[in-house]
Amino acid sequence: MHAILPGSTVAVIGSGAMGAGIAQVAATAGHQVLLFDTRPDAAAKAIDGIGKTYAKLVEKGRMGAVESDLARERLKAIGSLHEAAGAVLVIEAIVENLDAKRALFAELEGIVGERCILATNTSSISVTAIGAQLTHPERLVGMHFFNPVPLMALVEVVKGLATGREIANAVYATAESWGKSPVHAKSTPGFIVNRVARPYYAEALRLLLEQAADVATLDAVLRDCGGFRMGPFELMDLIGHDVNFSVTNSVFAAYYNDPRFTPSILQQELVSAGFLGRKTGRGFYRYGDEVATPAPQTEAASIKPTALRYAGGPGVVDALVERLRGAGMEPVAIEAAPGLYCEGAAIYLTDGRSATERAEVDGHRDTVLFDLLLDAAGSPRIALARADQCSDSAWQAAVGLFQAAGFAVTRLDDVPGMAVMRTVAMLANEAADAVNQGVCSARAVDIAMQKGVNYPRGPLAWADSIGLRQVVTVLANLATTYGEDRYRVSPLLRRKLAADPQGARFHAA
Ligand code: NAI
Repeated sequence: MHAILPGSTVAVIGSGAMGAGIAQVAATAGHQVLLFDTRPDAAAKAIDGIGKTYAKLVEKGRMGAVESDLARERLKAIGSLHEAAGAVLVIEAIVENLDAKRALFAELEGIVGERCILATNTSSISVTAIGAQLTHPERLVGMHFFNPVPLMALVEVVKGLATGREIANAVYATAESWGKSPVHAKSTPGFIVNRVARPYYAEALRLLLEQAADVATLDAVLRDCGGFRMGPFELMDLIGHDVNFSVTNSVFAAYYNDPRFTPSILQQELVSAGFLGRKTGRGFYRYGDEVATPAPQTEAASIKPTALRYAGGPGVVDALVERLRGAGMEPVAIEAAPGLYCEGAAIYLTDGRSATERAEVDGHRDTVLFDLLLDAAGSPRIALARADQCSDSAWQAAVGLFQAAGFAVTRLDDVPGMAVMRTVAMLANEAADAVNQGVCSARAVDIAMQKGVNYPRGPLAWADSIGLRQVVTVLANLATTYGEDRYRVSPLLRRKLAADPQGARFHAA
């Protein structure tokens, strides 16, 4: 089915942050846009605001002056829903309340033409439930934009049980024609992004609870080593702990208390204290003119080791060897478990066991682990963990080795799976389960996480690059260590690995 035609009328109901953004995007794409809000003057004020945004875009040379005038003229505030009678698409962005949304759509059904598509921007309510009482539930679909709408490309097109396929396709094509990156999703709690993103917060909170490091250090590791734009703690402070905690609780409840989504007592404490993040001046961090940003833990300079042996392995070990070569080391290849061997220290990529446990199993006390790197060649930082029984000299050799290659070295306490690996493995696991349960395709989940929350790589493409075997090993080791269902491996990961033990992937190489 085709996109709705440019020039046709789109009505946007609710002129808050989301409604105004949607109206701006629709008007820019050439639609006549009608904006309605129950608060008097709210729609007119929102249109004034959009006009100012257009003016700024013209100033910056990102929009033509004529184009901006025309787009501004296409926007009209309406004082009654009845004026939306000629719309071919109505997008609702009112308060997040099932009864309010049901009442609105029931009223709209009596106003708009029979071919008009009804879309909801809900981020947490079942699209199936919103449409349930309509005479024609097949024409109600989720059109879930991300904030700020003009800047975020993702639109989750959410099909409720009764939503017509052609309606979802038309909304998908429309979002695409507006320059967005739409993905199809089935109406399930959290849809794609709000479900698959949970481990980004949840694992960070667990790591903090287990004293892996302080918040500034964990944020720096996720940013510098994982390539995430913001660390989890600064991101939660920005979102607001009230909002983030309530999404976590609603997803947890909606999945009938699946331990994967268990909320954290640390976040509960912040909410109880009223430390809601940036907006209250205090969350995990303190904010204000006088407050210095805390620095991440970084090891003091150590001596560069002279000799290095290595056993190659796919991905990160080989890339590290290259980087060390570039730093003047002359690594000698040996037959051993993939890793780096330097002055007694055996240095491995984390496999989900602690360094202490691996040292004991291997019978080699001087064991050091490193965390996953998005880009081993360019990463400014590397996180290491040492076994409890590791000698100081072996630890210093490992630190000196990576420092010689230009890494800032951060020590994490010896928690299983470290920080980036544990987070990425859990993100990939959740993404795999969403695919396994038919919520979306593998392609869609990766687009969603990149375009909706700016992840540096889709979780499934990331799992491909780590190797599905390694991801499953990490998760299985976490499951064994914690004895918790939270770390159970997605059946889809196991199935892919069984079908193709050497080359299992989600996306073609
Ligand atoms: P908001 O509170 O800024 O705006 C809501 C607007 O709707 C207000 O202007 C209010 O006066 C108006 N309104 C309330 N009931 C109405 C009704 N019955 N008829 C007409 N207007 C009505 O809220 P925001 O942030 O714009 O969110 C709107 C919707 O978008 C919610 O469903 C929310 O869950 C969803 N959403 C929000 C995101 C966000 O980051 N803020 C992201 C994605 C979705």
